[in-house]
This record gives sequence, structure tokens and C-alpha cells, in this order.
Amino acid sequence: MINEPETHEIKTLLSQMSLEEKIGQLQMVDASGDSIPDWLEEAVRSGRVGGVINQVDPALSARLQDIARDSRLGVPLLSARDVIHGFKTVYPIPLGQAATWNPDLVKQAARASAAEAAAHGVNWTFSPMLDVSRDPRWGRIAESFGEDTYLTSQMGVAMVDGYQGDDLADPTSIAACVKHFAGYGAAEGGRDYSAANIPDNELRNVYLPPFWNAIKAGAASLMPSFSDVDGLPATANDTLMLEILRGYWEFEGLVVSDWDAIAELTVHGLAGTYQEAALLAAKCRVDMEMSSTAYADHLQGLVSSGAVSEAEVDRLTSAVLRMKQRLGLLDGRASRPAKPDPLQADLDLAQTIARESIVLLQNTGNVLPLQRSALRSIAVVGPLADAPHDQMGTWVFDGDAARSKTPLAALNEAGDDTVDIHFASALETSRDRSHTGFSAALDAANASDVIVAFLGEESILSGEAHSRADITLPGAQLALLKALKATGKPVVTVILAGRPLALKDVLAESDAVLFAWHGGSMAGPAIVDLLLGAASPSGRLPTTFPRSVGQVPIYYNHKRSGRPTDGEHAGEMVLIDDIDPGAPQTSLGMTAFYLDEGDKPLFPFGYGLTYSQIHYDAPDLHQAALTPDGTLTASARVRNVGDHAVTETVQLYICDQVGSLTRPVRELKGFERVALAPGEEKTVSFTLSIADLSFSRRDKSWGAEPGWFTLWIAPDAQSGAPTAFELREG
Ligand code: GLC
Repeated sequence: MINEPETHEIKTLLSQMSLEEKIGQLQMVDASGDSIPDWLEEAVRSGRVGGVINQVDPALSARLQDIARDSRLGVPLLSARDVIHGFKTVYPIPLGQAATWNPDLVKQAARASAAEAAAHGVNWTFSPMLDVSRDPRWGRIAESFGEDTYLTSQMGVAMVDGYQGDDLADPTSIAACVKHFAGYGAAEGGRDYSAANIPDNELRNVYLPPFWNAIKAGAASLMPSFSDVDGLPATANDTLMLEILRGYWEFEGLVVSDWDAIAELTVHGLAGTYQEAALLAAKCRVDMEMSSTAYADHLQGLVSSGAVSEAEVDRLTSAVLRMKQRLGLLDGRASRPAKPDPLQADLDLAQTIARESIVLLQNTGNVLPLQRSALRSIAVVGPLADAPHDQMGTWVFDGDAARSKTPLAALNEAGDDTVDIHFASALETSRDRSHTGFSAALDAANASDVIVAFLGEESILSGEAHSRADITLPGAQLALLKALKATGKPVVTVILAGRPLALKDVLAESDAVLFAWHGGSMAGPAIVDLLLGAASPSGRLPTTFPRSVGQVPIYYNHKRSGRPTDGEHAGEMVLIDDIDPGAPQTSLGMTAFYLDEGDKPLFPFGYGLTYSQIHYDAPDLHQAALTPDGTLTASARVRNVGDHAVTETVQLYICDQVGSLTRPVRELKGFERVALAPGEEKTVSFTLSIADLSFSRRDKSWGAEPGWFTLWIAPDAQSGAPTAFELREG
């Protein structure tokens, strides 16, 4: 919502409001519970509440709106909920949705989620989360779309479009809220809520663009992050909130604080009192306060003292009223009755998006897909084989575990009476360190033709405030996997988790590995579709998978440094176990790598296997140069040389070889999902313009710089034959 003019209706309403009623509109209150307490009814009726959060009982939600309409001016309430990846029907975590590289599917899931939530009285969600996330230790990487600015932008716009639909006043639409502005994903050490010390050029080129793209797409609201960004928590960071958001970007949508974030300015140590906190946030045009009451308690006094003008309060209140107007609330938007049970269409969509999110990491000996005709029995083992709650993942306040279909249930359904399913969870939870359940698992394994182990993380190990310093499989899961492998049976490992894990040892103990994220309600059927070959895996990693946590942060679009391992300083990389005794100081090469882990991750951004083999020809440039007002087309032929029909995600990367700032070694600038039958070939083309090459330059202006660019059309961020083109002056 850029530069939205004030409407006559808003001006009229404002003119009728007392200062107290204006300040009342700025307060968001937690209304969770199975009844409406007297204090809340009184606060709403007296016009001291502008919005509520966490009330999703349709009757209670409607009751709260009725009470608001009984207030002196009858202004309805914003009613918010964190609808992050579904409501009662749960879709994969956003990180998994990003792994589909299918924005249209993400949009469909957001649309279905909005309709379900709106039927429960919700008209505002705090989603999509657009924090570029490069640290798998951070629990909230689950809510992100991963490490890349371009992919995050594409997915963020899709989710905004899905939630908001064509008309925000439509009873099935809910307002989106892009968050957490900005840089929350750079929390130091991957520890949630920690400072995000981001250099300004990195902030402008990596972390800000997804927010700008979502705002251009019409996002109705925005939430500043808790983060201390270079000494200024975002809630009171005038560079972010005023110079960039309200100034440069001209955003006139609603800005809502995060939970207690205004009061927490006193904890950060930026404000000495709640009154100072209210002043700082109001001056940064944070329109609405969530949960804490610094505005309710101190804004009136700040106006009386002249520290804040009533006109400044009017501007905050107008933003709230404008959002209510866009939602049709001021015109009596009709509410919709809750759907009594899940639409089958929603469950089908949940299965499709979960299936497309799953990434095939390894398939030694083509053990997948399982050949049903040759199978008499399958051992289904592990703590996540039958975990209806955990497979939904984090941020599922309304997720209905009764709707979950687990991998075990799906295999039992799919395995007709010709295939015996032997199940043993072996561990109580993903954290269980006990080996007492191993014998039952080994019995199941020895009685079966193949072992499918469902391992990973419970949902509670993922999400807000749930960072992990060790990103290997928790508990005794690896020991279990080793014991299963020792039986000599083929082992298929399926990982359900909310973050990239360090899987080196898991790969060594498995023949095939599928990474299924926390896949939501229909994770089970989605996984079984792939295990039994109903479809080929098509997911691609939206984040780099490190070899070990010691490599973190490690991501594909890094800077080259002056001594890259593939540059003129490259030498044969000698790793720690191969160093000669007494090796002289400079004998190991002078480049950017780890003696004990090398310079490459376990799997790069964009990586994913299919059940077939896809050959890429080198890119063909239809012209050798790009001019500022022109376009450049790059094509590549891709061929399916295997025997399975697949969907291949063809990726376009560039590298700006020389710039006024150093530039990343690669940047994703396009992707296309291409269906390929066995033997089929297609030519995939991408068109670049100067806008695709633009960045925040050394002088902070946004634009491209003439010079040479490397280009790849590839299956991931580490592959592909390079070519080059020149951006000319004119
Ligand atoms: C939380 C989160 C934010 C969420 C809000 C409301 O602390 O940081 O993402 O939307 O509170 O639940």
C-alpha cells in the first residue's frame, strides 16, 4: 500500500474521535480464551481496543465485533492470528513451501488458509515472514523462505496475493503482514532475538528487497523485527522505519509492533522508561502496539507535554482505520460461517504442495522408487513415522492433528494385502536417547525386504525461541540408523525437520535420503507417493545444507574474497587427515576453506535429485550484450535421458564480475519448472533486463553498472557451464 491518500470517510471518523478514542485504535489486545472476560468487553465497548489477537472461536469473534459496534463510534476490530502455513488444514512449513519453487502453489495454499481462517473471524494474519535466513541453528528458519533474496521475494509476493486475494474486503480475504522488518534472520549465532549486526550494503542488497517487492505487490501491513539492528532495535530504528519504509518506499500501510516489542525497548536499553519507549516508537510511526500498553499508558501524556502532536497521533490512527476500510470492516464486512470440516480440495492441495516440497538428496543404487511388485514387506521405523502433531511443524496454533495422515497410515493404506508393513517407532521422541526400542526395530527390519526410517525433529525443536547449537539428528536416531544399516537391508531415510540438518553421517548410513521438512497435514501421503513412484521428487533446496554446524554461516551467494579456493590462489586442497607431518606453514594453500571440512557444503542451494537424469547444454545467448533499455535472452536445452517422467527446476544465475561494491559469486535471477517425459528435451529461455542486474550501489543509489556478467543455466547453485555477456553503457 504505497502512498494511499486519506479518504473522506477516514477524515470524518477522525474528526469525531476524542484523543482517547484515537489512542484506543492503536492498541492490540490478546483475546485468547474460551470466553470474553469483563475487562475485555469493557475495554472494547469503551473504544480502547483497535484490534484483538488469538480469538478464533467464530461465535466469540463475532461477539467481540458486536461489542465493538456497540461502542460510541462503532468502529469494528481488526482480528489477527498467526496463519503461517495453514489454519486447521496445515501445509508444509514456509521453508518447505519454498522448496517447491512453485509460487503458484504457495499462493493457492495461502488462499485456502485465508478462507479457513476468515471463517473463524480472522481478518489479519502476521505472515508472510520475509526474513532471509542463512543460519540453520535459528529455529525460525522454518518460517522463512530460505537464504535467497530472489526466491524469498517470489514466494513472499505469492503468499501476499494468496492471503489478500483480488479484494481485501472479500469475506475470504485476510490482510497480510510482512515481517520481521528487517534483518531478523541474521540473529547473531542463530540465537533467536539476538542482535543482527548487518552492514548497510548487505541490509540493502540482501535483507530489504523481499519487503520492497511485497509492498509493491500491495501488502497491507508490516511488522518491525525485535532485532537490535546495529544498535537500534527495528521498532525504533528511524533509518529503517522512516528513511526507507515511509520515505524512500512511501509505504502508507499499517505498521504493527511485534509482541511487547515497544515495551521491550526498555529491556534493550534504548529507552529508560515506557514513556520514552512510546515516544520512540510513535516517532518511528509504529501505528499499532501489540500486547504491551506503552501507547495506552503514555501517549496522552506525551501529547499534553507537546512531545507528540495530536496530528502525529492522527496519522497513526488513520493507518489503522485505512486498513479497516480496505478490509470492508467500516462497511460492515460480512463474516462467513466456519467450515465444519476440511474441504477435500484443501487436503488434496496439502498433499500436492507437500509432495512438491520434498527433496531427494541421495538415491544410491536407485533404491527409490520402491518396486512394489518385488516387495513383500516394508519395515517402517522411527519416531516420526506416526507423529500426527510433529509432522505439522511449528506455528500451528490451529492445526488439527486429527486431519494429519502420517507416513505409517499412508503406507498401510497404499500397501494392499500383498505387502506387509512392520512398524516400530524405536524411540519415544526425536530426542529419546534410549536404545531399549532398538530390538523391536531390528526385528521389523530383519523381517522385511526394505527399511524406511522416519527420523528428524519434533516440531517443538523448531520455530520461535527454539534455536539449536547442534544441527545433527537429536537423541539416539543416528545410532538407530547405524543399527538398521548393519542388518544389510536397503535403508531409505526420510527426514522430517524444521531446518537444514548436518546429514553427513545420515548419508553414510542410508541408501536413499528424502528431506520432507515438516510437511503438514498430508505429509504422509505425499512421502508415500514418492516412495512408491506415483511421482518423482521435484523439490529443490531453498537453503544450503552444511557439512557440519562449524561451517555456518555458509550460503551460495557469498562474496568471492581475495583468496577463493577456485581462483588464482587455488591449490589442491589438503584436508586435515592428509597433511604430512611437519608440513611447512604455507604448504596447505592460502584460500578460504576449512582444514577439517573443506570449502563446499554438503548440498548447495537449489540442489535436488529426481528419479531420472537431466542433461543441460551450455547456455546460448541470443545476443552478446545488453543495453540499458534492452533485454537479453539466454536459453539452454535440457534433456531427460532417464526413464522417469520428472519436473526439473531450471535455474538462472548471474555474477556481476566487477562492481562499485564486491558482488556475490552467484545470484539467482530466474527459475522455471519444466515437465520432461523420458527422452524429452525442451529449450528453456530467460529474459534479463537492466532491472535484474540492479543493486544498491556504493553511493546507495539503486541501479546496474556497465561491465561483464557471468551467466549459468543450471540445476543448482554449484553446477552449470558458464557463459558471459556485457552490459553496455548505451
Ligand atoms: C511473536 C512473533 C511474531 C508473531 C507475534 C504474534 O513473538 O515474533 O512473528 O506474529 O509474536 O504472535
